[in-house]
Amino acid sequence: MDYHLQCISCGATYHKEEIRYVCDKCHDLLDVNINYAKSFSKIALPGIWKYRGLLPIDDESKIVSLQEGNTPSYECKNLAKELHIADSHVYVKNEGANPTGSFKDRGMTLGVTKALEYGAKKVGCASTGNTSASMAAYCAKAGIEATVFIPSGKIAFGKLAQALVYGASVYEVDGSFDDAMRTVEDMCKDSSKMYLLNSMNPFRLEGQKTIGFEIAEQIGAVDKVIVPVGNAANIAAIWKGFVEFKRYHMVKKLPQMIGVQAEGASPVAKFWQTGKFVPEEHPETIASAIRIGNPVNWKKTVRALKESGGKIFSVTDKEILEAQSLLASREGIFVEPASAASIAGLQKLVKSGEISKGEKVVCVTTGNGLKDPNAVVDQFKGKIKKASELKL
Ligand code: F0G
Repeated sequence: MDYHLQCISCGATYHKEEIRYVCDKCHDLLDVNINYAKSFSKIALPGIWKYRGLLPIDDESKIVSLQEGNTPSYECKNLAKELHIADSHVYVKNEGANPTGSFKDRGMTLGVTKALEYGAKKVGCASTGNTSASMAAYCAKAGIEATVFIPSGKIAFGKLAQALVYGASVYEVDGSFDDAMRTVEDMCKDSSKMYLLNSMNPFRLEGQKTIGFEIAEQIGAVDKVIVPVGNAANIAAIWKGFVEFKRYHMVKKLPQMIGVQAEGASPVAKFWQTGKFVPEEHPETIASAIRIGNPVNWKKTVRALKESGGKIFSVTDKEILEAQSLLASREGIFVEPASAASIAGLQKLVKSGEISKGEKVVCVTTGNGLKDPNAVVDQFKGKIKKASELKL
């Protein structure tokens, strides 16, 4: 496939054969720019690879897939009624239904395939949990070594169990995700030793853009897509997916992209208000997946928000937990706290009168609730009763 890498700031271009995560000249992020063919048609490959015509790999024989993607989009009428917007259409795109329980699988099938194309024997990532679980699974399938760096004591138990059982080498870093990110970036400076699979690697986003493709195919044109924001890559990837589908007339119009951060870890939401990006040194929120103070991809997110006429704001932990319970108890969909930020975001838009009659709104729920049961059980402790207390 014909594509190259291009710096988002200075526009410098780089040949696809060379491993590179940032621009040599200005050290800013890179995009994968595909030289689009005249037409695009889906083909019979597993997982997201049915969109092979828009995915930048060169050697199909190297594809590592666990049949990721094709996750359900549910229309949530009970939720819409509860929020008093029954005359609008609310959908949940449930990424918790992926093989390792999060959207990361879409990026990892591409990232690990790319690692094989580049001949990497060892790959690494920093993670708040889901990236490490996903990378470990795809590396197990590919037969390459996975090394993960996690903030000590700060990732959900289910995610840690996943990284361990899939066979990754797990290293704890004192501090936050951002410290773990600095550590892995350092380790991956010489890419012949370790290939970096964080979302700073632009190929990860190429896999994640398929969320946009699927929303367009499952629901059609929508008005708003609400996405939880942590390291700030996924919302930009989904936007890229919509833009590419529009180019091929696979969707009629583009949605507004709405980002939601947790209040205690909201540097991009603050940038949106003040125009100043200030990394947060001690990010704190119950939504551990998005507990990130210095999101690597923030500029890509801001670009997507501006291009789509969207915005980003924050919600409190209380709002996140209430939204998690609401979605589970009204729709039977159990998502982790970070994912519930999209539902809490929708509630906030409803309160401020920003959801109009007839609008189609999609909340992307990014990870499965079973990964982090503690966040729920702690709240519900008093609800468990003795069987002898029940009188019918
Ligand atoms: N939701 C979940 C469940 C996540 O795990 C993440 C990121 C996000 C949302 C935010 O996506 O970073 O692209 O803005 N988790 C990363 C990890 C950081 O290490 O698993 P983003």
